[in-house]
Amino acid sequence: MTTTVEEAPGTPVAIGGTRGGPDKPTLRKDRWWIEPAVTFTILTAFAVYATFAAFMNRDYYVGPALHRNLIAPLDSPCLTGSCVPGTHPFGVWISAWHITPALLILIFPLGFRLTCYYYRKAYYRSFWFSPPACGVADAHGSYSGETRIPLILQNIHRYFFWLLLIFNAILTYDAVEAFRQPGYGIGISVGTVILCLNASFLWLYSLSCHACRHFCGGQVRSFAKHPIRYKLWKLVTPLNARHMQFAWISLFGVALCDLYVRLVASGTITDPGFHF
Ligand code: FES
Repeated sequence: MTTTVEEAPGTPVAIGGTRGGPDKPTLRKDRWWIEPAVTFTILTAFAVYATFAAFMNRDYYVGPALHRNLIAPLDSPCLTGSCVPGTHPFGVWISAWHITPALLILIFPLGFRLTCYYYRKAYYRSFWFSPPACGVADAHGSYSGETRIPLILQNIHRYFFWLLLIFNAILTYDAVEAFRQPGYGIGISVGTVILCLNASFLWLYSLSCHACRHFCGGQVRSFAKHPIRYKLWKLVTPLNARHMQFAWISLFGVALCDLYVRLVASGTITDPGFHF
């Protein structure tokens, strides 16, 4: 059924209607396809890497044998019976779980990113061509927006936001723990710095989230009556303006951090550092 609403006088918006426009897919002459092509390549590469890392089920921890305490972010927190010793400071929650521990964890950061307002735009454009760019025809004949199953489930994003704050706290804990070098004492290595950067990027990505900004300043009629919310809103608004940048930086950050820990754990590279 087609619903027509008046967005502004004389501007009818049809939801569930048929897409219109000129006969040509686009009148644009620039290389509009570069952005969706790059997005497609990066997101596919990340999905392949995350799947590979999740199922590898080894080399996700650099422990006392190498005088380090580094855990790969895609496997943290390690809560299952299959986790290697030293990786579960929060205890074993599911002892009967003997396959890769990452499968239990990845669903949350993945769900957060998949439902993120920015990533939605990115993958609607690059994977579904819906539409591939501004001023370019949609590859689909009709448009229902996010008004029905399954896309209406994207609304779950606001709940993923709160869950991800817990993950950020855990990865921050991992970064602090990385300063502990078993057998040496306290020290700093390249791995420590990478884990700290990764945790910082993830905080920036989460705090710049639109759901976070809405929580701080949304549905407030008068900021004068809500000074604390006004302060929080002022704090996160500049971050929110850079949400796209933080989305990409944190994605690269988590992949590179994970890869670095795995390379050190497998003995492919060493982790340069010093201790006090
Ligand atoms: S809108 Fe992107 S993380 Fe919330």
